[in-house]
Amino acid sequence: MKLIVSRGDVLEGEVVISGSKNSSLPSLAALLLTNDEITLKNVPRISDTEAMIKIIKDLGYKIENPEPNTVTLKAGKRKSFKVLSSEVGKLRGSYYLMGALLGSINNVIIKTPGGCNLGARPIDYHLNGFEKLGATIKYKDGIYHINAKKLKGTDITLPQESVGATINIMLAAVKAKGTTNIYNASLEPEVLDVIALLKKMGAIIKVHKEKQIEIIGVKKLSGTEHEVIPDRMEAGSYLILAGTKPGNNITIRNANYQHLITIITVLRNIGLKIKRQNEKIIVTSPEKLGRTNVKVGPYPFLPTDLQQNLTALLLRSSGESSIEETIFENRFSHIPELIKMKAQIEQMGRMVIINNSTLVGTEVRAHDLRCAMSLVVAACMAEGETIIENGEVLLRGYEDPIRKLNQIGVRIRFE
Ligand code: EPZ
Repeated sequence: MKLIVSRGDVLEGEVVISGSKNSSLPSLAALLLTNDEITLKNVPRISDTEAMIKIIKDLGYKIENPEPNTVTLKAGKRKSFKVLSSEVGKLRGSYYLMGALLGSINNVIIKTPGGCNLGARPIDYHLNGFEKLGATIKYKDGIYHINAKKLKGTDITLPQESVGATINIMLAAVKAKGTTNIYNASLEPEVLDVIALLKKMGAIIKVHKEKQIEIIGVKKLSGTEHEVIPDRMEAGSYLILAGTKPGNNITIRNANYQHLITIITVLRNIGLKIKRQNEKIIVTSPEKLGRTNVKVGPYPFLPTDLQQNLTALLLRSSGESSIEETIFENRFSHIPELIKMKAQIEQMGRMVIINNSTLVGTEVRAHDLRCAMSLVVAACMAEGETIIENGEVLLRGYEDPIRKLNQIGVRIRFE
């Protein structure tokens, strides 16, 4: 499907932030760690969570949606451990079912996960962690066979901070015999949210300073009710959109201000006025935007998932800006597309140099989820109409984006 976006007038209005994609996906997998009934609230209705729910249903589990954003897994005995649904290859987060099923029944057969093409995206840290816990892993014809007689707690050091590996190893370790320590763990808000859910289920998990997570294995995990944190990438995307035109004035509700502190700091430094009013964040855009140099990094630094959107916004800044992408070796699919829109931009290795540009709408292609939103940001600043091929990829990570964007004045529709 194509997204058709035109510059439109000044943006104003209110947007309500949904639950976090990157917390919901592992949390949905974590539901399989108990036989009790268990409920997750504030789960965004996006194609990634829909795919995850379908995979879990295909395993034979009974899932209900008592409310649009509430997911309840009904109590019941173990179901299948063969995760061979065609949905698995549609998202990276399906790999959390490795840790969840290994942790719950010490056995999982699963297809290779999918996800945005941001470079190699290996899962060696995950697999090495499972092996250290006592699992054996065979890989044949695109399918992983992972099992263990029993999982035994151990010390695991991650070569670099990895959200996925940290969470997946935790899911496998919560019912292992003994204690597991994960060193150089990722402590992103989404990781801490999954820890909060697991502790409510009865897991014993302690977060120590210096990025160490200690997990003391327990015999059983119980049902509970947990509300997923707001999606800081969605909130950050709307904060960035607010900077696309002089006079824009947007109110953002249900965001977690603390999770946004770095992107808020960066946007204030280039001239946006951002103020907090109870659970609202009100952002207005100046006549001109200043320039800045930013480096992506683990929380609380600028999240890599906002790098592409911020790059697009800085095309409106006067002067030369730069962004360094330190997490993914190939998160630059938006650059050639922005250049089609006459962006004055240059990528040198992991560094992107951005200069003030007069953007012109044209046909572009969304290569991945955050590339799609960066092209929407650019289209809001461009002369004329922008046609974004493969626009449906936006639906992977943003709940109800067409309604929310039109509500604040972005002229956008699918065709
Ligand atoms: C999660 O991806 C998020 N995805 C990403 O969001 C996010 O950008 C990323 O964390 C931030 O670190 C989900 O939560 C579903 P990593 P993940 O493991 O877990 C390397 C979005 O747009 N690595 O933290 O896959 C890896 O290549 C998505 O919402 C290995 O080498 O990322 C990367 O360079 C995009 N081996 C670095 O570590 C491994 O086994 C950090 O990746 C695992 C990772």
